[in-house]
Amino acid sequence: MPSPLSIDSLRLQGQIDALAAISEAPPPVVTRVLFSEADRRGRAFVQELCRQAGLLLQEDAIGNVFARWPGKDAQLVPIATGSHIDAIPNAGRYDGVVGVLGALAAICALKQSGFEPRRTIELIIFTAEEPTRFGIGCLGSRLLSGALPPEKAAGLSDTEGQTLEQWRHQAGYGARPLNSVLLPKGVYGGFIELHIEQGPLLERENLPIGVVEKIAGPSTLRVQLTGVGGHAGAVLMPERHDALLAGAEIALAVEEAALNSGSPDTVATTGVFRIEPGAVNSVPCRAWLEIDLRDTQSSTRDAALQRIERAVPEICRRRGIEFQLERLNLDEPAVCDPGLVSTILEVCRELNLPAKNMISRAYHDSLFMAQICPTTMIFIPCRGGVSHRPDEYSSPDQIANGVLVLAQTLARLTCGS
Ligand code: GLV
Ligand code: MN
Ligand code: MN
Repeated sequence: MPSPLSIDSLRLQGQIDALAAISEAPPPVVTRVLFSEADRRGRAFVQELCRQAGLLLQEDAIGNVFARWPGKDAQLVPIATGSHIDAIPNAGRYDGVVGVLGALAAICALKQSGFEPRRTIELIIFTAEEPTRFGIGCLGSRLLSGALPPEKAAGLSDTEGQTLEQWRHQAGYGARPLNSVLLPKGVYGGFIELHIEQGPLLERENLPIGVVEKIAGPSTLRVQLTGVGGHAGAVLMPERHDALLAGAEIALAVEEAALNSGSPDTVATTGVFRIEPGAVNSVPCRAWLEIDLRDTQSSTRDAALQRIERAVPEICRRRGIEFQLERLNLDEPAVCDPGLVSTILEVCRELNLPAKNMISRAYHDSLFMAQICPTTMIFIPCRGGVSHRPDEYSSPDQIANGVLVLAQTLARLTCGS
């Protein structure tokens, strides 16, 4: 192991704070939605830091960024690390960012120690891990791994009907076709993503590190409802076809399906619910719902999904509402690589950092990287398990522990043949 490795926590925290200031909303809120001005400035900021660290940069046709520290032996398969910097509306500053700027800090610490990798180390900044713009998460890693066919991706549309292909061209990524994003299997010898836990277990058990063995599989549904609008005073109750009320019943059916799935691991959320025209004295004529459903076992998740898909037509028929129901994604849970998991546990033992094996209930780009190479994740605690909120927090020391484990793991995986 290269020693001693010193993690520059002050510099890392400064970078995390500077990136948090690049946001569509005032502090402490971080919002950086794919292809927004803040997303573009955030990418430029991180790419400049990578350049300053001496990494070689490349971008693909969806905006995934590859920052390369070339190894001494170009014949050996590279090891990759990374995460995302886009942020959902009303987010905090650590989700994804710790896995990008923390990985850069790990690389800088290794460089500073005089370590020279034999294998190339590649930092990947994935495009749009968050589903905000198009309703589907992990856009960059889905395309790169082949989990999402480019023709399907090109047709994805936002709430205004503007397609991914249109957005991509406007954002300056249109020179190459989307099918150029796909990477061959075996292009990486391993992928390790550092991330905040986004749950309470590490903090509760006072553990600095979690090593991920399995990642829950998500599914997303989009439901568009069309009823009949009208004057809130004039349309009598028996005559109504209120799109909001159909949506409300659907949201309750979603909750019911998760509660009664028979698995405590099934979770379901109606996270988007928009109505039109949105006037207090007008009957809602249209509603738009996006539903997120997950489980660590696909069998219980899929049974709950089918229940929801049966409930939607039944509710709409009863209320005289037209509907469109679309499954945006249905992903299998990922099993992490046991070899990588035990390597990281060993690194933790050597560093005297107690660690435990964990399941990730959140999804990550690792879910799709696991389809093309051995993959796992390093979790660090976050305060109260809070995430996807502006008060998301991990301390500089907690982050430094994760960065140190990542750095030593990268060193181990890239020092030999
Ligand atoms: C990722 O942000 C997730 O929703 O799990
Ligand atoms: Mn997130
Ligand atoms: Mn994340």
